[in-house]
Order: sequence, then structure tokens, then C-alpha cells
Amino acid sequence: MEQSIKRFLNKHIIITGAAAGIGKGVALRFADEGGRVVIADRNRECGEAVAKQITESGGKAAYIFVDLVDHNSINELIKKAADVFGPVDIAVSNAGIAESQSSALDINVEEWDRVYDINTRGSFFFCKACAQNMMDNDTKGSIVTMGSLVARSAKGMSGAYASSKAAIIMFTKTLAKCLAPMGIRVNCVSPGIVATEIYSNVEKEMMMEKDSFADWLVEQSIASGQLLISRCGTSGDIAGAVAFLASDDAAYITAQNLSVDGGMDWCW
Ligand SMILES: NC(=O)c1ccc[n+]([C@@H]2O[C@H](COP(=O)([O-])OP(=O)(O)OC[C@H]3O[C@@H](n4cnc5c(N)ncnc54)[C@H](O)[C@@H]3O)[C@@H](O)[C@H]2O)c1
Repeated sequence: MEQSIKRFLNKHIIITGAAAGIGKGVALRFADEGGRVVIADRNRECGEAVAKQITESGGKAAYIFVDLVDHNSINELIKKAADVFGPVDIAVSNAGIAESQSSALDINVEEWDRVYDINTRGSFFFCKACAQNMMDNDTKGSIVTMGSLVARSAKGMSGAYASSKAAIIMFTKTLAKCLAPMGIRVNCVSPGIVATEIYSNVEKEMMMEKDSFADWLVEQSIASGQLLISRCGTSGDIAGAVAFLASDDAAYITAQNLSVDGGMDWCW
């Protein structure tokens, strides 16, 4: 949907995990509102396709490879992005993975490290590198991180993922406190259920059909009265909230976690 408001004209926005799912929706939204968007992802093929989709429809975008488990790769990303579009105005730390549905008692060290390396460590150092670029250029920028519904209301089945997301909410707040004197705002968006590839491992594990887990979860949640808005979330729902928090419309908002989850309240 083309946006008539253009809040990000000539702004440089870097989005991790923008090759697919929610991140792609966020990239399309910023580009629609006039932003110059860096699609930062480890999936080259899909990342280049998103950048092409944006440029072919008249927007400005570039794909840059990043693997968030590699600290040098994060620094390279910021350097290359600055070469292409200049100082960073807005950073969206969106990339994340969810592995198995292992219970908190069954998670092994390898899985814990894989989830934390990307969701928590990778996200933190990406935000820190973007903040440094903003401070070096005296940019009164904005950073948006990606939490999750399960950071505040988790089941016993997603121990590593849920706690990695809870950590993000707290580092969002601590970073916001450090960066406030420089005029940089930091907020978190916590999505509920959005049907994306993130559920593919769970689908395999539960022997469910591809793309069926999110719908199943939504049905369960509606039936048990835990989801107030009776549908699955979309990447556009999340993108709208990210764009709001990144924009001057949210000039007096920092250190917050905004739930975008249809009013979900899981108590199981
Ligand atoms: N989909 C949901 O229901 C949901 C709910 C709550 C929170 N979230 C969060 O939203 C964010 C986006 O999730 P999604 O559902 O769009 O997932 P997705 O799997 O569709 O997309 C994730 C993207 O991140 C990229 N990525 C993964 N690891 C990376 C790495 N090491 N370096 C660079 N890029 C990497 C992938 O290539 C992919 O393009 C995640 O942080 C996720 O935890 C999703």
C-alpha cells in the first residue's frame, strides 16, 4: 500500500533481517515513506530481491550482507552502509531466529548459543555500532529493536528464545538511558503471531505442514479467549508500529516496549 505521508524523506534506515518476513515489511514501509533503505541480511538472494523490488517501484534501497554472529561483519555493514547512503538516521534491529520448541529443561548448549548469538549478542552489537555512527555524526537518530510477546508471557516450551527476547527489552531500556543525552531514542516493538519462516523449524519438529503453525496458534488462542483481535498479525501491522516509533511522531517516546499482538495474553 503506497503511503501518502512521507516521514522519512532522505533518511538513511538500516534494517537487519530485511530479506524476509517482518523485516521485509518494515523495509517496504520505510521505502514507501521516502526513506533510503539498507536491506541487511545473511540471505543474499532474498535480500537482493527486496532491494530490487523497492528500486523498481521508484524507491531507494541497497542490499548489504551481514551475519550478525560475526562482530566484524556488523562493523563492515555499518561502514558499507555509510558509504552508500551516508550517516545512519534510523536503525531497526529486527533479525532473529527461533529454533526448536524444546522445553526449558531440554535445551542444549548449542541451541542456547545459536539463539543468543543472533537474537541477543548480534542485536546488541548492531545497535551499539549504529549508535556510535549516530554519535560520530551528531545525528539525533532513532533505534528500534524487536522483542516478542513471549518475552513477557512465555510457555515452558521456548526457553532460549523467550529469554533472549526478554533480554532485548532490557537492553533497549539501558541503551535508551545512555543515548538520551545525545538525542537518540531507543524503543522496542514486541510482535504477537505473524506467519513467517521463523516457525519452519517448529513445523518440522511438530510434523505440521509448512506455514501452518502460526494459524494453528492463532486458532488456539482465539478459542481460549487469549487473543482479542481474532486474526494473525501481518508484517504490515508490525511495520506500522516500527515506523511510528522511528518517526518524529514519537519524538517524546523512548525506552518503551510496544506490544503489537492483537491484545494477546498467554497464561499457559
Ligand atoms: N513471526 C512472529 O510471529 C514473531 C513474533 C514475535 C517476534 N518476532 C521477531 O521478529 C523478528 C523477525 O522475525 P520473522 O518472523 O520475520 O522471521 P523470518 O525468519 O521470516 O526472517 C528473519 C530474517 O532474519 C535473517 N537472519 C537470521 N539470522 C541472521 C543473521 N545471523 N544475520 C543476518 N540476518 C539473519 C534471515 O535471513 C531472515 O531474512 C525476529 O526478531 C523475531 O524474533 C517474530
